[in-house]
Amino acid sequence: MFGWIIPPPKPSRKTKKTFVKERLRKISSLKQTGFLRSINIEKAMLKIPREVFVPFNYRDHTYEELPFPLPGKKSTISCPHSYPMFYEAIKLSPGDNLLEVGTGSGYGAVLAAEIVGIQGQVTSIEIDHDTISYARNCVAQFNYPNLYLVEGDGGIGYPPNAPYDKICLTAACVEIPPPLINQLKEGGKLITPRQVLGNSQNLILLEKKDDGSLTLKSIEKVLYVPLQGKYGKLD
Ligand SMILES: C[S@@+](CC[C@H](N)C(=O)[O-])C[C@H]1O[C@@H](n2cnc3c(N)ncnc32)[C@H](O)[C@@H]1O
Repeated sequence: MFGWIIPPPKPSRKTKKTFVKERLRKISSLKQTGFLRSINIEKAMLKIPREVFVPFNYRDHTYEELPFPLPGKKSTISCPHSYPMFYEAIKLSPGDNLLEVGTGSGYGAVLAAEIVGIQGQVTSIEIDHDTISYARNCVAQFNYPNLYLVEGDGGIGYPPNAPYDKICLTAACVEIPPPLINQLKEGGKLITPRQVLGNSQNLILLEKKDDGSLTLKSIEKVLYVPLQGKYGKLD
């Protein structure tokens, strides 16, 4: 689906101990390849068992660099390296107020809630009803009173918890939705995959300076499911 080749589904047989070993190995390789640099992000990745968020029939591949389909029409849990890639770029830190557009499995949201800590807050919006139900079940296995899951169109943001220090879109837009830029604090950072020509996408970092002006930087080529809703691409 969506251009990735994924292994055939098969019930998980790995033990908890094996997953812990694989998690440690993955974190070490993410550090070596430079995707993971901050201690806060590393601690969160060590603490949160990603396997809980991966559907049972793909769970044995949790620590491979592959996205897997989730319940819902166009939903995936992203590859492991994408989380530190996004969170390092926006410098996600304790105390931040983060908006995530595209909850998917809820893994990125829980990881972020651990990073921002109790002084911070994470609001994560998902447009697909079946996907957010799946995410709610996964997230219920943890206790993060600073994490809010919302069902709706994240392209229009979530004004009740704005303004945000940081915003992450985990689905590819064609144009950065203006309401998200409005809901970003001055001095804030937004990261999003953006569709360029054909199926090609760039990961874009937008910074809103203290005087309200915007800078855009392209980080690298990526491949994400398309943004839906008001600011999505018609397909
Ligand atoms: C790559 S997946 C998210 C992966 C997720 N971060 C995780 O940790 O599993 C992208 C998600 O964005 C959702 N999505 C697409 N357009 C959306 C929109 N306008 N508002 C909210 N969610 C949207 C999709 O349904 C999909 O679940």
